Amino acid sequence: MAVYAFWNNKGGVGKSYLTFQVACEYARTHPDRKVLVIDLCPQANASGMILGGISAGEVAINHLAHRTGQRQPMTISGYLDDRIVSPYKNPYSGANYVTQVKKFNAAAPENIYIACGDSSLELQSEQVRNACLPGPPEAWRIVHTWVRDLIEDMKTFWNEQDLTVFIDCNPSFTIYTEIALCAAERLIIPFSSDGSSKRAVKSVLSLVYGVQNGAGQAVSAFYTSTNRFRMKLPQIYAYVGNRLTQMNNSSASAFKQVVVGIFNEVYDVWRNNPDIFKIHPNGASAPTGRPAFRSMFESQINDANTASVVSGALGIPICSLTAGRKDLSGKEVIVNQSQLEKQQPNIREFVASIE
Ligand SMILES: Nc1ncnc2c1ncn2[C@@H]1O[C@H](COP(=O)(O)OP(=O)(O)O)[C@@H](O)[C@H]1O
Ligand SMILES: [Mg+2]
Repeated sequence: MAVYAFWNNKGGVGKSYLTFQVACEYARTHPDRKVLVIDLCPQANASGMILGGISAGEVAINHLAHRTGQRQPMTISGYLDDRIVSPYKNPYSGANYVTQVKKFNAAAPENIYIACGDSSLELQSEQVRNACLPGPPEAWRIVHTWVRDLIEDMKTFWNEQDLTVFIDCNPSFTIYTEIALCAAERLIIPFSSDGSSKRAVKSVLSLVYGVQNGAGQAVSAFYTSTNRFRMKLPQIYAYVGNRLTQMNNSSASAFKQVVVGIFNEVYDVWRNNPDIFKIHPNGASAPTGRPAFRSMFESQINDANTASVVSGALGIPICSLTAGRKDLSGKEVIVNQSQLEKQQPNIREFVASIE
């Protein structure tokens, strides 16, 4: 079993899009496994795409969040409500808040399930934070294992040790991101081609792993607390350059600069702290030298233009999407085979690297 979180301290880099594509393709190529997506972002973008896209996904989220006659929403917020009521006592109720995606989205594989995102996360965050404050000595640790508990509930419910879990996170370093990182074993860091991506990646390394960017720089309370409670942090599994095409030659070379900048940053961290990286595939030996490091930890995903938009809008994973005319809320658009071929191989290759 492995638990992956997609996180970067920056919005719009593709965390939600990649959660959708990677989780669906992983489920399709591993029909014998249960795949669980946990959406810890109040925007619920990954949930929207996974549950059927702009129209159907919205209907599904509303249906799960506002069930008529039911007190609790059947979303991640419903689960958090259970935890907020009695923060330090595990209700073992996770399975009540997980939905089979196929019930809402015919294009999804049978074996993918979701703890759906919910805008109520914003309203609950104060209560979740408060539950971490002094109370029992272990308050911080217990609250930060709530999502880990949910995953354990699903293992018990399915009587299945071998789950693969993908968690989509908020861009900012909120309590939910902290909880996600405490549940995750492996971290995937998407980044985009703009200049601020390098800063965002640096900030991930500093907030999560206490990597200092300058002498005397303060470390995050998260880093201090995870250390204090000897909690395991996720290991870096991959950094993923996302949306790489749609560029002329000059922007392509600008992008190359960004990738190299980020590679240098991450490679430096590797040399000083190899323990925070997850060597893969299982059984592989540690990379020696730059090219081997890059091939183990770096991935790139192209932009598939209209095909990407259609995939997200209709909730049809890019690897299952076919070329041709598509109806986007009454408007006809055309997906070209060439667009699909820009991204499908990247997603397939990246998913093949996920264990
Ligand atoms: N590889 C890609 N190709 C095309 N569009 C993409 C790709 N990755 C992300 N997008 C689009 O870019 C926008 C931002 O991505 P999103 O996943 O919402 O970012 P984040 O979750 O990091 O804030 C969305 O409209 C998404 O559909
Ligand atoms: Mg997002």
